Amino acid sequence: MAKTRSVYVCQNCGAESVKWLGKCPVCNEWNTYVEERITKEVSSRPGLVNVSRNAIPKPLKEIESNSEKRIDTCIGELNRILGGGLVPGSVVLLGGEPGIGKSTLALQLALGLHSRKVLYISGEESAKQVKLRADRIMPDNQDCLILNETLLENILTQIDAVKPDLAIIDSVQTLYSDSIESSPGSVSQVRETAASLLRYAKTTGTPVIIIGHITKDGSIAGPKVLEHIVDVVLQFEGDQNYLYRILRSSKNRFGSTSEIGIFEMQNSGLAEVLNPSEILLSHHDEMLSGIAIAATIDGARPFLIETQALVSSAVYGTPQRSTTGFDQRRLNMLLAVLERRAGFRLANKDVFLNIAGGIKVNDPAIDLAVVVAVLSSTFDAPIPGTTCFAAEVGLSGEIRPVSRLDQRVSEARKLGMKEIYISKYGVKNLDKGATKIKIIPVSRIEELVKQVFGKGNN
Ligand code: TYD
Ligand code: MG
Repeated sequence: MAKTRSVYVCQNCGAESVKWLGKCPVCNEWNTYVEERITKEVSSRPGLVNVSRNAIPKPLKEIESNSEKRIDTCIGELNRILGGGLVPGSVVLLGGEPGIGKSTLALQLALGLHSRKVLYISGEESAKQVKLRADRIMPDNQDCLILNETLLENILTQIDAVKPDLAIIDSVQTLYSDSIESSPGSVSQVRETAASLLRYAKTTGTPVIIIGHITKDGSIAGPKVLEHIVDVVLQFEGDQNYLYRILRSSKNRFGSTSEIGIFEMQNSGLAEVLNPSEILLSHHDEMLSGIAIAATIDGARPFLIETQALVSSAVYGTPQRSTTGFDQRRLNMLLAVLERRAGFRLANKDVFLNIAGGIKVNDPAIDLAVVVAVLSSTFDAPIPGTTCFAAEVGLSGEIRPVSRLDQRVSEARKLGMKEIYISKYGVKNLDKGATKIKIIPVSRIEELVKQVFGKGNN
């Protein structure tokens, strides 16, 4: 018998309570509890999914493995992140900021799968809008089925009738189920719709891609439970003002999470970027000061990237420090190290730092390039375009080794770099085969300044 009950659900973390609370005891957020009315008994255990009713225990060796049956997505970068293609019956959650290109990527995937039946369920855009987008991306192949619907029960009926090879939901926050009274996008609705889609994927073996919005702080909107129940969580990121987009997986039950995919947003959709270093370096002819090239690694991928710094006298009493693509606190730390350990007076200077292409870099190996770019701008002394840097800078001014140096050195060599500065303590881990590139080991900031700029303190 259908029951109606009312619960208060935290819209931030999904915690439930029988009464309203001002502060969520689980995630400590204020004013996040909203009353949600739930009808139907099934919803009382929304997170629980019945994969198969007559399941019995089986020895592991008797279970069929279907690793070879992955579906090729026809997008190389996506295949790589997924660990070799879409696994039948898997549920992939694709998150990202509005306008980053989630719908474009999903539609491109749908249109690219020529021989398969793909159902694209759009709750956000009308079928006409999807058509306009498809005309831009792939005008000559439009076999994909489009369904404009937001009611979960109707969607499931249509999916049952069409029996697609792949279903794409854009987006989970627009769907709602009749059995829950709260509005679309609320925690109970998101949880219920995701659980139903998961049940469908697991019982029929059809892969489902769910697009999800992200909240202001960058996590996928809706309860954390959503990330727990799906098999793969992909995050699409990038700066709106730049064309590059990075796809990362933060969870993957069928592959590694260290792979990243790089795309460029073009007029006709997203293009894969196979050699990121080539476009992230500007290849200018004249020598400009304030630029240093870092050999970084993101996920499992090495690439060279330009760091640009501008140091100028501060106009106001408090100097400005501004960064794009780099942690500002880390820049402050590096400037303090330069000040204390190498005697550069930067306290009355404005420092601006940019990482090329609007790409965010978290790799500590970029420290050395940042320091060199700042010094290069201070001295107005350009660094040759064939020199790159890969090391972390410690608080006492020591230059520390970084991981996977071999990969960085070979990427630098591949791109025609002539010399690479690394930590003296990392040299022993280096493969001695790398002869075409000059390895310059340094152990302290002062030594670096002497080696690169041929001078002592200013
Ligand atoms: P969209 O895929 O709608 O983003 P999301 O679904 O993540 O909100 O956003 C795409 C943005 O990319 C939009 O601002 C327009 C732009 N775009 C292109 O530059 N080229 C294209 O071919 C397409 C389809 C979109
Ligand atoms: Mg969209």
